[in-house]
Amino acid sequence: MTQRKITVVGAGNVGGSIAQRLADRNGYEIVLVDIVDGLPQGKALDLAQAGAVCGHDSHIIGTGCYDETADSDAVVVTSGIARKPGMSRSELLETNIQIVQSVVREASQRSPAAIFVIVANPLDAMTYVAWRVSGFPKQRVVGMAGVLDSARFRMFIARELNVPAHDVQAMVLGGHGDAMVPLIRYTTVRGQPVDQCLSTEQLDALVTRTRGGGAEIVNFLKTGSAYYAPAASVVEMVEAMLQDQGTVLPCAALCEGEYGLRGVYMGVPVRLGKNGVEEILEYNLTPEEKAAFDTSARGVRELCREVDKLLGV
Ligand code: NAI
Ligand code: 2OP
Repeated sequence: MTQRKITVVGAGNVGGSIAQRLADRNGYEIVLVDIVDGLPQGKALDLAQAGAVCGHDSHIIGTGCYDETADSDAVVVTSGIARKPGMSRSELLETNIQIVQSVVREASQRSPAAIFVIVANPLDAMTYVAWRVSGFPKQRVVGMAGVLDSARFRMFIARELNVPAHDVQAMVLGGHGDAMVPLIRYTTVRGQPVDQCLSTEQLDALVTRTRGGGAEIVNFLKTGSAYYAPAASVVEMVEAMLQDQGTVLPCAALCEGEYGLRGVYMGVPVRLGKNGVEEILEYNLTPEEKAAFDTSARGVRELCREVDKLLGV
């Protein structure tokens, strides 16, 4: 059987970790791309050599040239910078728009049938940029954040209850920012509603910690942000699509009427399959949940409209 080809743009912390996870699966051809000469080549060689020990024989190359990405089945875009001291949100937006725009142009021309998974921040806006620039159908451009935010929420609940994180099911919707929406009503622990396991005060504290989950790690690392859980989240999404699993995961998807939104990428529950985003599921939200979702959406909508201005749409 021909191996599926996955391009990972950005060979930094997240991109390198994604490539490592994919290589360990032993079923993919992986192309790692970066603008820094030597970085993708070095990481690719290192990962291939790990195969002798780990038992994989993954074909993995590192390059600065997009020709080698041609005909990828999936392209993951992790290239982008994090906000630096003194840098405004708009300056970050402008810089990462330029990076994501150029990367998506290069990669989409060579892999016109690929599914794009965007990771660069600000996530919802960058996914919107990728969709606009590629001209791809909305099903084939999706953003990763909700799987990560939900993983954090699940792990915090699991620690509190002393159960494995896998036994906790949760959905965090909304934009990938301080106003994200962990849905308590849709959170279960071994099938039991979480509000029967934890008090309101405990849950409030875990919701707050989840919203600040990325910042908590930045405060520890000081010079970078999280990458192991982000990489694991990307790989779950990529495999759900390339293996046509039909898994329902929270992902940034273009809403066109769903949840009362139009022309905005937002974290919503989606069914992932071979065509990418096969369906957006519309959960029943209480007025409080809807209000929280709408607050998050307002911030994301503003960013998307700023993107429109900067792209000259
Ligand atoms: P990093 O700095 O370790 O890696 C980024 C890589 O992108 C660097 O190697 C850099 O050389 C490369 N790059 C920059 N411009 C490029 C271009 N034009 N073409 C090709 N490569 C280019 O950063 P890290 O930790 O890997 O994070 C990457 C991005 O992902 C950041 O924007 C970060 O905020 C975001 N992120 C998003 C998450 C999410 O939940 N959506 C989770 C974690 C990170
Ligand atoms: C995170 O949530 C930085 O968006 C990244 O860890």
